[in-house]
Amino acid sequence: MREAIHNLEASKIREVANAGMGRDDVLAFWFGESDEVTPEVIRQAAIESLQRGETFYAHNLGLPELREAIARYTSRLHPVVDASRIAVTSGGVSALMLAVQALVDAGDDVVAVTPVWPNLTAQPAIMGAQVRTVSLVPMNGQWTLDLPALRAAITPKTKLLIVNAPNNPTGWTMTRDEQQAVLDHCRATGTWILADEVYERLYFEPTPAPSRLKADSPPGGEGEALGRELDSNGCAPSFLDISTPDDRLVVTHSFSKSFLMTGWRLGWLVLPPAMVDGIGKLIEFNTSCASVFTQRAAIAALEHTADITPRVVAHLKHCRDTLVPLLAAVPGVQVAPAKGGMYAFFRLEGFGDSLELAKRLVAEAGLGLAPGNAFAPEAQGWLRWCFASKDPQRLVQGVERLRGWLAQQAR
Ligand SMILES: Cc1ncc(COP(=O)(O)O)c(C=O)c1O
Repeated sequence: MREAIHNLEASKIREVANAGMGRDDVLAFWFGESDEVTPEVIRQAAIESLQRGETFYAHNLGLPELREAIARYTSRLHPVVDASRIAVTSGGVSALMLAVQALVDAGDDVVAVTPVWPNLTAQPAIMGAQVRTVSLVPMNGQWTLDLPALRAAITPKTKLLIVNAPNNPTGWTMTRDEQQAVLDHCRATGTWILADEVYERLYFEPTPAPSRLKADSPPGGEGEALGRELDSNGCAPSFLDISTPDDRLVVTHSFSKSFLMTGWRLGWLVLPPAMVDGIGKLIEFNTSCASVFTQRAAIAALEHTADITPRVVAHLKHCRDTLVPLLAAVPGVQVAPAKGGMYAFFRLEGFGDSLELAKRLVAEAGLGLAPGNAFAPEAQGWLRWCFASKDPQRLVQGVERLRGWLAQQAR
């Protein structure tokens, strides 16, 4: 086996989960998914597709109808994107891997903003790249970008910048000004940007103006429905808002989070036109195509986005606003409300290794959290709590368990 694969670290999140899976007395918040099942209308579309016998291979880049639907959806949130720039992938994680396979050679210099979901730094390492990280800086529980440090790290030798915002695990969201500064810098150094924007709709702040959608929508049309949706729910700043199609920019997306479709394994890429054929070839050699019935389900999801996503986001916001004040009131906890995503990332004073702490919380308190050092060494001492809970009372119970356990330690 290749050295790079030998050297891959096993997932610390899995290590904690493996210690507690199968125990029904554990309240589990370790993985990044809701415990709510995919909406009925989406499941029904897949069932109907299967009933029609759609069980065959499909086009490498996805069903034309789905690529069109994704392009329409994207163009309502951002400047117009043509369907020819969309590639449908088997999950957001596959979208990311395809982009990395397409862009990174062994030995290339890659910069990643951390803490981040570990897959994003593992993927270029699998390709044999040298991954350097630039850490966000925690201030009163809120993580912020050190823009001068990021600029200094990206040189003409840097092939790729990987940035995930809204960020898993910290909830950090890039501002438009930060995106513009990073794009300008990467244009100057000739560096590609891989922007992981899978959480763009799980955004709890006002949507940055101007919203193209409202300006362009014909009254009564599909756009107006999405306009209403955006009035109550947001869309985080995106590199798509400020770039041109020929920029060295690849944006990855997923149906997992905003449509409650984690198990379906469906995502997409927004690509510069010159990369589309290459990605089509790579899809052939990785997965060949996404299954047709999941793509039909995704079309239904996009047709019903105005009913689904605002409800998902409103519920997540309620979950965040239930959990974070309770957590903040626990002695020794430092936490700030996430601007986007589905995680509370918090520091617990007085404990060293996050992995050890997370394992003890499972064993001794029946509370399943992800260790901060799974996302970056600098997040040692932090824990990630996925607050996407159908029943917010589970979050309340979880904090009670944490409090009870901490009280025992103090004795
Ligand atoms: C930052 C980030 N990017 C991408 C993904 C991939 O999601 P999926 O493969 O389920 O589409 C995840 C999943 O947790 C994530 O947290």
